[in-house]
Amino acid sequence: MTPALVVVGSLNMDFVVTVSRLPAPGETALGWDFQMNPGGKGANQAYAAARLSGSGLVVRMVGRVGYDWFGDHLKAGLAAAGVDVSTVHATRSQPTGVALIWVDSAGQNSIVVAPGANHALTAEEMEGFRRSFRGARFALFQLETPLATVEAGLRIARAEGAWTMLDPAPAQPLNRELLGLVDLLTPNESEASILLGRPPGRLSPEEAPELAQALRQMGARCVVLKLGDQGCYYDDGQRQIHQPAFRVAVRDSTAAGDTFNAALAVALAEGKPIEEALRFANAAAAVSVTRLGAQASVPSRLEVEEFLKAAA
Ligand code: RIB
Repeated sequence: MTPALVVVGSLNMDFVVTVSRLPAPGETALGWDFQMNPGGKGANQAYAAARLSGSGLVVRMVGRVGYDWFGDHLKAGLAAAGVDVSTVHATRSQPTGVALIWVDSAGQNSIVVAPGANHALTAEEMEGFRRSFRGARFALFQLETPLATVEAGLRIARAEGAWTMLDPAPAQPLNRELLGLVDLLTPNESEASILLGRPPGRLSPEEAPELAQALRQMGARCVVLKLGDQGCYYDDGQRQIHQPAFRVAVRDSTAAGDTFNAALAVALAEGKPIEEALRFANAAAAVSVTRLGAQASVPSRLEVEEFLKAAA
């Protein structure tokens, strides 16, 4: 049977405006360019997994869109990349999700999501998707669908033998019961701080061991801390690895985390050792931050392999 990877999550149409600096509350700022791009953390991860998988990995997406042009366009884009969208259903109760994104000249962003149809994906209907998880090596989740849906999906994925990966974004506190269903938890710096009830701020690689251990004690089996330009830190209780980031000129960090997660899952599903998988994920994320947009920034497998060759 061809190995599969399932993504449960959001599909959004992203409205992206580039600005010299992110506006302060109450401020009207003049921006430069506008782009409308396919996004949504779930869809970005599914798209990236399909683009980055080399050897016949089946990628399935479970999600909800509205009965509108955005929904049709987002599904068509995923399907064109090779994602199975037969379990992305349309709902009449809500429009397709949208995200309003500002990107400044340093590549930093601010994102506001109106989830719309993504919040119509209910915990009750997850049982109906059970067959989609059968034979899957990995099941990827984020937090742009209701928490109860994520928890139900994690339970079913685990029961069907898939490794579960949770990107705890947008950040919110999570309980031990939910975290206990997670094989690989992948917070960035601010998400790790919120999960641990710490003040937000940058983390140093020196702080990473203690934080990763604390997150494992909250229930996650393995942790990968995404440390931005400081790389990533992996801890499974037996092995701890700090994988430095590649140095690139940052244009837009939107979806870099999604690209990282998809690349890591693809590499692990292919049986790559963890160091190699982390390096592959860092490289995919590094290429993505050099480009504007979410799915528009995701590199192909070949581009990542060439980037790695050039960096060797
Ligand atoms: O992770 C980036 C994504 O966050 C964007 O594509 C936007 O849609 C929001 O979901």
